[in-house]
Amino acid sequence: MDILKESRDIIEAINKAMENYLYEKEPSHLYNAVKHLPLAGGKRLRPLVAYLACEALDGDGMKTIPFGVALEFIHTFTLIHDDIMDRDEMRRGMPAVHKEYGENAAILAGDTLFAKAFEAVSMMKNDAVVKRLTKNLSIMAKEICEGQALDVEFEGVEYIDEPMWFEMIEKKTARMFEHAAMGGAIVANASEKQIETMRKYGLNLGMAFQIWDDCLDVIGKDIGKPVGSDIREGKKTLMYLHSYKIDKEALKDYGKEASVDKIIEIFEKNGSIEYAKNIAYEHSKKAIDAIKEIKDSKAKHMLIELAKFAVEREK
Ligand code: IPE
Ligand code: IPE
Ligand code: MG
Ligand code: MG
Ligand code: MG
Repeated sequence: MDILKESRDIIEAINKAMENYLYEKEPSHLYNAVKHLPLAGGKRLRPLVAYLACEALDGDGMKTIPFGVALEFIHTFTLIHDDIMDRDEMRRGMPAVHKEYGENAAILAGDTLFAKAFEAVSMMKNDAVVKRLTKNLSIMAKEICEGQALDVEFEGVEYIDEPMWFEMIEKKTARMFEHAAMGGAIVANASEKQIETMRKYGLNLGMAFQIWDDCLDVIGKDIGKPVGSDIREGKKTLMYLHSYKIDKEALKDYGKEASVDKIIEIFEKNGSIEYAKNIAYEHSKKAIDAIKEIKDSKAKHMLIELAKFAVEREK
């Protein structure tokens, strides 16, 4: 199954809803910057997870759409700020927002999208659901900031142990997938046990997704963003931590522009890419395993396919 093709109608509904929240025009420099990334494509995976989790638990996926918009706006906000922090100039195959509109507008565009996320959730009809989702989104956003802070902090450290590294990616990336899946269950009015089931699915999907993203940064082609960026920036990845234990001397130029090809060779020689990929596969399997008790449905099948896609995707 081509999960993105199969989800075309859902993604179309999400895109339409997002456009409805991007209505302001003035100041034009700000709102052009705000619209740049949301309208530049993107896989819309987090809203899709929320939709499918809801449907898999007998809810109406369409009711998750404002929540999905909120997730995508928060995701886009973090990407805009992330590209400033990571000094990356391309995103979704286009110039990053700060390259096109300058850093000031990019910071404000991110802030604006963050605010708009809560505008979207406030439009949902069920007040108890709005209250719970708002609380969850606030905690999630705070933890993404903590994860991003650790990610940047680790650039300046020679080595960190794996548990610390897993905590960082759990916060910066997996938490949003976790809340996407839980949120879908909450909208479906599911039991606390089912919400917990979806939390485990989303968490493991998100871990798999970030580890695979790090692999794509090394071996990817045409990923819509710069390849080799993590090595240039001195980002700590599982591949780095694995190679460090084998031959730390060989990594002394890690974090330098000219070292990218050499470092990739070292990762290959040490089996570090395979090591990271295998851990991504394990998380993908755990995600699938988490939902095994949920009754069969097309949505459940699509969640399974999404967990496979996370570790097969080429961008
Ligand atoms: C990129 O996420 C950021 C990470 C958490 C690795 P996506 O790969 O989902 O980005 P888009 O939304 O499709 O551009
Ligand atoms: C993404 O991490 C995490 C967030 C944006 C919160 P990365 O820095 O690896 O994402 P990309 O590779 O730039 O998409
Ligand atoms: Mg980045
Ligand atoms: Mg980053
Ligand atoms: Mg990356």
